[in-house]
This record gives sequence, C-alpha cells and structure tokens, in this order.
Amino acid sequence: MQQRVLKLKAQQQIAPNTFELILSGDVAALAYQPGQFVMLQIPDTAHLLRRPFGIVTIEADRLHLIYRTVGVGTKLLSQCRSGQLLSVFGPLGNGFPTAFLKPKQEVLLIAGGIGMAPLLGLLKRLVAHGIVVTIIFGVKTKAALFYQLELESLAKVYYTTEDGTFGFHGNVNSLIEAKLTQAHYQAIYGCGPAGLLQMIARRYQNHPHVYCAVERPLACGIGECYACVVPARQQNGYYKACEDGPVFSKEQVVF
Ligand SMILES: Cc1cc2nc3c(=O)[nH]c(=O)nc-3n(C[C@H](O)[C@H](O)[C@H](O)COP(=O)(O)OP(=O)(O)OC[C@H]3O[C@@H](n4cnc5c(N)ncnc54)[C@H](O)[C@@H]3O)c2cc1C
Ligand code: FES
Repeated sequence: MQQRVLKLKAQQQIAPNTFELILSGDVAALAYQPGQFVMLQIPDTAHLLRRPFGIVTIEADRLHLIYRTVGVGTKLLSQCRSGQLLSVFGPLGNGFPTAFLKPKQEVLLIAGGIGMAPLLGLLKRLVAHGIVVTIIFGVKTKAALFYQLELESLAKVYYTTEDGTFGFHGNVNSLIEAKLTQAHYQAIYGCGPAGLLQMIARRYQNHPHVYCAVERPLACGIGECYACVVPARQQNGYYKACEDGPVFSKEQVVF
C-alpha cells in the first residue's frame, strides 16, 4: 500500500459517460491481485476525499483504470488532460480468490455495466493461467458496451441488453435461465449493482466458489472510518468493504 504521484498518459471516452484512463509512473513493482483498488485524488481542492477505482491492470509503468462519470469527482476527472499529475494510493483491499483453480478449468464472470472494469484484470490473469472463461456482460443498452473485441479475443462472451438493442434481450438472470442452466463452472465471479450480486448469490446458492466485488461509497479507504460497512451473513456484524473486501464470498455477506 503506497502513495504515488502518477502522470496522466492518456484518457479516452469508450462509451457514453465511460472513460479509459492510463496513468504512468513508478508502478512497475506494485504487486496486485485483480479485484483490488486504488484511491485516486481528484485534482480539485474542494474535493478532499479520494475516490476508489478498481485496478484493471498494472503493466510496466502503466496503471489502467476504467470509470463511469456519476458525480462531481468523476466529472472533474474526465476533464483532466495528458500530463496532469494525479495522486494514487494503493493497491488496497483484497482481490478475487483464484489460487484453487487449475489450468483448463472453466469459470464464469458476470459483469453489470461498469462492473466489467475490475473483472477485466481478472479475465487477463485467468487466461494467462490457462483457465477457460465465459463472460456475461449485461448493460441497459448497446451503446454502454465497451472492449468487446478484447473480451471476445479472450473468452466466450454473452451480452444482454435490457432494451434488446444487442445480444440477449433481457437481464442476466433470464439469459442464464435460457442458455446456461446446464453449464458447470469451477467458480463464479461477479461485479455490478447490488441487485445483480443478490441474484448471483441466490442462483448459485449451493456453489462453493461464488465471489463478488461490492461497490460502497468509501471515505478513508483504509478501514478507519466505517463508512463502507457491508452486513455479515453469519454473525451480527459487519465487514468493511475497503479493508475486508471489496471481494466477498456469498457466505460472508448480504450483497
Ligand atoms: C472498491 C471500489 C472500486 C470501484 N471501482 C470503480 C471502477 O473501477 N470504475 C468506476 O466507474 N467506479 C468504481 N467505483 C465507484 C466509484 O468509486 C464512484 O462512482 C466514485 O467514487 C463516484 O465519485 P463522484 O465524485 O463522481 O460521485 P459523488 O459525487 O461522490 O457521488 C455521486 C453519486 O454516486 C454515489 N456513489 C458514490 N460512490 C459510490 C460507490 N462507491 N458506490 C455506489 N455509489 C456511489 C453517491 O451516493 C451519489 O449518489 C468503485 C467503488 C469501490 C468502493
Ligand atoms: S472507507 Fe473508511 S472504513 Fe472503509
């Protein structure tokens, strides 16, 4: 866990309100597990709290993030230009557990919208280890999809759109019901809105390896303020998304 000042190398819009951000600097030695995140300082003195973003990849001197503009911080970030210096703190949190997987085993990745961002790094890591990956990428409408060619070069991909403009017309649950009830996966990984994660936990309730990354508004990002609590399933208590997560098994928490 380290703080670094990185230079904005490139930023481009890849879908409506969705941006790819490449930062460069002294990151080559940072070990990370897909699912971990960084806290990024928005370059504006009125917004002191750093914002969390899942690590897509760290390759050579490049940190790759993908984000959606939802509020003032991400809007300001989208206006940053090449050469802008940005302070980044991390990697933080845990990551997706993968040590139990063996080459040629099959896994399922389920992404809702921008939830694809942290799953991209996981996809690359799994494929590099010889794991066979199927992806379900669910969005509201075709325009919200991104990185299709890259995904399809690495995995079998099913798309769902709520308005039927691309792929399967409906939600992720109805796609699984229609096409994937017979499939068996060694592990299921998810990231996206709470409703999607709840559906994954319900549908795969008897599966031993179901892991999802939760999104909670964070403040400190390092376990000190309790802004990010997630209710525990087995006990009267809470986990902290920033420190104990953001990845949890379905047995640990109520998504
Ligand atoms: C571990 C983690 C990893 C994340 N990774 C990514 C990522 O890779 N790409 C990405 O686009 N986003 C990611 N997010 C969400 C991202 O951090 C927020 O969208 C961002 O902080 C919003 O900042 P803002 O200033 O634009 O919005 P604000 O002005 O702070 O808030 C705008 C609205 O968004 C809501 N909001 C803010 N933060 C969150 C949050 N974390 N979860 C749900 N609602 C929120 C607020 O309640 C408010 O309604 C991640 C969040 C976490 C906790
Ligand atoms: S954000 Fe402060 S404890 Fe998690």
